[in-house]
Amino acid sequence: MDLYELRTQKSRILHSEARKFLPGGVTYAIKYWEPYPIYVSRAKGSRIWDVDGNEYLDFWMGHGAIIMGHAYEPVIRAAKEQLELGAHLGFCHEWEIKLAEIVTKMVPSVRLFRATNSGTEANMYAIRLARAYTGKNKIAKFEGHWHGGYDALHKAVNPPLDKPASLGLTDCVMNDTIVLPFNDLDGVRQKVKGKDLACIILEPVMGSNGMIPADREFLKGLRELCDELDILLIFDEVITGFRLARGGAQEYYGVLPDITTFGKILGGGIFPAGGFGGREDIMELLDQTKRKHYEMSFHGGTYAGNPLTARAGYTLLSELIKGDVYPKINALGEKARKGLEDIFSRHKVNAHVTGVGSLFAVHFTKEKPRDIRGAIGDTQLAKDCFYFMLNNNILCMKPSKQVFAPSAAHSEEDIELLLSVMEEFLKRVPT
Ligand SMILES: Cc1ncc(COP(=O)(O)O)c(C=O)c1O
Repeated sequence: MDLYELRTQKSRILHSEARKFLPGGVTYAIKYWEPYPIYVSRAKGSRIWDVDGNEYLDFWMGHGAIIMGHAYEPVIRAAKEQLELGAHLGFCHEWEIKLAEIVTKMVPSVRLFRATNSGTEANMYAIRLARAYTGKNKIAKFEGHWHGGYDALHKAVNPPLDKPASLGLTDCVMNDTIVLPFNDLDGVRQKVKGKDLACIILEPVMGSNGMIPADREFLKGLRELCDELDILLIFDEVITGFRLARGGAQEYYGVLPDITTFGKILGGGIFPAGGFGGREDIMELLDQTKRKHYEMSFHGGTYAGNPLTARAGYTLLSELIKGDVYPKINALGEKARKGLEDIFSRHKVNAHVTGVGSLFAVHFTKEKPRDIRGAIGDTQLAKDCFYFMLNNNILCMKPSKQVFAPSAAHSEEDIELLLSVMEEFLKRVPT
């Protein structure tokens, strides 16, 4: 039995139980690693404890949603109070207004906003809205970019990129989605030629596939191209929203999309959440007071904008709008990136760190990757690194690629701990 199994016997038992009732024993394949994942019993600040009593320094932070640290008191307090008053009312309430108002204050391109229950849903409605507004069918996304499980966007996410990203996707839907090369404006120009696209959607920082930022010039060029060809530009800011800056990636880059989608942080980091917003003339297609139902782009849902999620989101955004959290978390990201690059060059290992602001990822590649193709590296080394971290009480995602999203609850000492564990790992790697 290896060290991991010795330390996690209770998790092993829970996983064998889970396999009886859940396909693969999990609720989302990303949460699984061999031979079984850890089962978490509680979390506070930057720390997580598993059912075996191991304490971990968490760098995954709820898929990047937990920007202030686990169990952030103001959000917990607000949620508790709202639970007593009514978590699901089925009627209008003031928290949906407060949430929409603060989003429009924080995010430069968002004039009107609607809440959804997840990032996937937000992207689904945004794509529909873009089609409704432009009257065009075809859309485009980028290689390696993850926008959730919605059919039209579930294409060319993970290598091999030419294989279907899931079974059950129809040719009809797939043929309407064009796939573009990231950070390559000439390549994009060639691919979109004659396609008559409704929209181009992208992650301004390719997130779960390795925290690879768009070049500023690339984003600017994409904006110009979209204007030239009457294509709507959609930023999927499910990860970058309220994280790279108060106004997300669009504030950081100074490039404004037509529609923006959100998730994660928007629900206070703890409740299922999403949302989308944009210019008045686009969002106006959702306005039932101005249009008959067959003249609208539908959006809605039983729990969309429910008071529990909306209040939790509003409470968190009220903290973030003050702005003082960003210099802190960005400095942590900067320290980690500098420290890791330094360790990699001293150990003369083929490894690089990418990222921006508080977000970063480690790639065991010869060159620093600029897209998903360049991010395909030494998978065995990545896997070994992941398990070494795990056995040294550091959590990140995932065995194939180490992705980190520290929070305001992390300290400089936490980053130093990460660096020292990476140093120890590389000492063991034969050169
Ligand atoms: C950039 C991005 N878009 C969309 C999604 C989907 O969001 P959700 O998991 O809330 O459906 C994710 C989830 O990780 C994401 O990272």
